[in-house]
Amino acid sequence: MEDEFSAGDREVLYRVIERRRDVRAFRPDPIPSETLYRILSAAHHAPSVGLMQPWNFIVIQDTGTKARIKEIFLRENEKAAAHYSGPRGMLYRSLKLEGIEEAPVNLCVTADRTRAGPHVLGRNTIVDTDLYSTCCAIENLWLAARVEGIGVGWVSILSIDELRKVLFIPSHVVVVAYLCLGYAQEFFDEPELQRRRWASRVPLDQLRVPRALGTVGFLKRRQQLRVAPARAGQVARRRL
Ligand SMILES: Cc1cc2nc3c(=O)[nH]c(=O)nc-3n(C[C@H](O)[C@H](O)[C@H](O)COP(=O)(O)O)c2cc1C
Repeated sequence: MEDEFSAGDREVLYRVIERRRDVRAFRPDPIPSETLYRILSAAHHAPSVGLMQPWNFIVIQDTGTKARIKEIFLRENEKAAAHYSGPRGMLYRSLKLEGIEEAPVNLCVTADRTRAGPHVLGRNTIVDTDLYSTCCAIENLWLAARVEGIGVGWVSILSIDELRKVLFIPSHVVVVAYLCLGYAQEFFDEPELQRRRWASRVPLDQLRVPRALGTVGFLKRRQQLRVAPARAGQVARRRL
């Protein structure tokens, strides 16, 4: 059977994933509605538990609403900054952690926990799978935006209760993410937090799960192993 995706296609996909960035500095140019629609459509093609599709996308473009949300951020960021002192505190305060007012579009991504009724296939035991599904939609959106040249910045330094009031979000709907979208001033080669020496990406080969837990995490490329279903408490390993 002929491969549906060429080597070039594969290369592009991996490149998009690597080149995705959390962006906090935006150009003021508006996002055309058809582009925004394409990005939201990519989000809507995400996997979801029981095909529940619990997400909603609240598009915020009004400057007054953005200003109110920025105030929530400023209050919460003050509280967060209080956790750091000395040079680390100064570095924290110098970081740009949102682009709420500069971004032409803000997007509140929510999950309606009642979508698809009380019994959703696959969600009986782990109820939070609706939230996990919504995060999958966000990653799709983030990647689609990247190929459109649009930066996405996730802002989590916000009081959910206050956000609920501003956006009239009812209690059965969970706020999963608040995102800022706009044409990026720049896509950096590495995460902003790494560039600013706040944190750095852990090499994949260093990730491990304690063997005592009965699973094998990521192993060195040379000795790639995979965990197969095994008798209780035993880990079976097969070469790939
Ligand atoms: C759940 C979540 C919440 C985040 N919240 C913030 C935030 O409040 N402010 C911020 O500047 N970046 C935020 N980020 C972005 C991360 O800092 C960023 O993804 C990480 O540093 C890696 O950088 P990269 O996305 O450019 O690869 C958040 C990311 C995630 C996934």
